[in-house]
Amino acid sequence: MLNHIQSLPRCHQESLRHLNDARETEEDPYESLYQAEDPSAPEPVKVDKSNMLLIGPTGVGKTYILDKKINVPFSICDCNSFTQAGYIGQDVESCIERLLIESNYDIKATEHGIVVLDEFDKIARRETTTGRDVGGEGVQQALLKLVEGTKVTINVKDNRSSRSTPPITTNFGGGGSSTAQVTPPGGKVDQFTIDTTNILFVFCGAFVGLDKSVLRRVAKPSVGFGGKVEGRTTVAGTKQALPQELFSHLPHYTAASAPSFTPLDLTTPEDLQAFGFIPELIGRLHNVCALSPLSTDDLFRILTEPRNSLAAQYIALFETYPSRLNFTEKALYAIAERAEKSGTGARALKMEMERVLAEPMFDAPMPHVLITEACVRGLEKPLYWGKDGRFELDRRLQEEELNPRPATHPSPFEQYREAGQSGG
Ligand SMILES: Nc1ncnc2c1ncn2[C@@H]1O[C@H](COP(=O)(O)OP(=O)(O)OP(=O)(O)O)[C@@H](O)[C@H]1O
Ligand SMILES: [Mg+2]
Repeated sequence: MLNHIQSLPRCHQESLRHLNDARETEEDPYESLYQAEDPSAPEPVKVDKSNMLLIGPTGVGKTYILDKKINVPFSICDCNSFTQAGYIGQDVESCIERLLIESNYDIKATEHGIVVLDEFDKIARRETTTGRDVGGEGVQQALLKLVEGTKVTINVKDNRSSRSTPPITTNFGGGGSSTAQVTPPGGKVDQFTIDTTNILFVFCGAFVGLDKSVLRRVAKPSVGFGGKVEGRTTVAGTKQALPQELFSHLPHYTAASAPSFTPLDLTTPEDLQAFGFIPELIGRLHNVCALSPLSTDDLFRILTEPRNSLAAQYIALFETYPSRLNFTEKALYAIAERAEKSGTGARALKMEMERVLAEPMFDAPMPHVLITEACVRGLEKPLYWGKDGRFELDRRLQEEELNPRPATHPSPFEQYREAGQSGG
């Protein structure tokens, strides 16, 4: 290995040697990434986190896209359960506790984790009869220090003895300031202090009605000189006919991408303040991202493409009856179209599926079930065939393809032979 290193340019030799040393001396391959800096070297620039707020209509996948397995500790908490400290409900610090559990009680890993606070819009200020808003503004005030960076002390109940891993495994070397405070003689750690400065906070919520207040602000008066007709909101989403110049300051704006922007993209801190958030908290959110409502094509892809897509789920369910469930492509597209109109995003797909399949589920088992476009639109009943119905089924499936394929002219003899073999 060393001979090989010597034949390389000097800088490569150095890095290879480092890599080699690291491999021989340390068990954890990531340890070398977090090694303490050389004291004589100048301090590297510290890059701060940028918290994020995701806004989008219900069912567009805000929670879904965040719920992925990534390599840092990650926890999703629901803001609905938070209350101000001292009241019945969870304190905001419980989200850090969840993160600590996710990272297997590794303090340094927790301090570099991601906390997603879902349903963030539900802690907007509310009018209460008592004058005290412990679930809304009180929670926002409690979040202030947590989001910016504070030390949170967490007491962990001693039910962790069944864990297989050691209590604290710090993969992150230098750089951190917090330590476990109480270490009883038995070696168990009950109290953790977590510094939240480097924890990334991602907030998301549907913010129903926010688009209307944005529109009210940006739309020109509809009466008087120079007045334009104000765009109207739909229940489903926020597709508006706003002038495209309004979006030109936004990142990723091009003439081609312009139609995909919605009024929610124009959200400013004032709009959020009007929605019921205190300016101190809004100032701590550095990015506001709006998700567009899902189009029919998006819904069609969600319905058919993922491995656990709804279509695949219901086909698998019918196999257990046992029955073969078939959808024509046009039927699936019609389901997507109807779901789009309902205004609840991708969740409406399931509702449509349940509606369409309620009768076949009741009538099952039968060998073949076909759902056609007319059936989705309520003009026809689902079609059932016995074992000999395969030909008719294939013909109907081909008839309702979205992009009909050119006919391949299979020889009728082969068709009959195939049918004979399968008993159809
Ligand atoms: N892009 C997508 N790909 C696949 N499935 C999706 C996608 N978007 C949404 N879904 C489906 O829709 C369901 C609902 O999405 P999700 O829970 O993320 O909604 P949401 O935007 O968080 O809505 P809410 O504001 O009501 O909480 C998901 O469980 C998932 O099955
Ligand atoms: Mg959600």
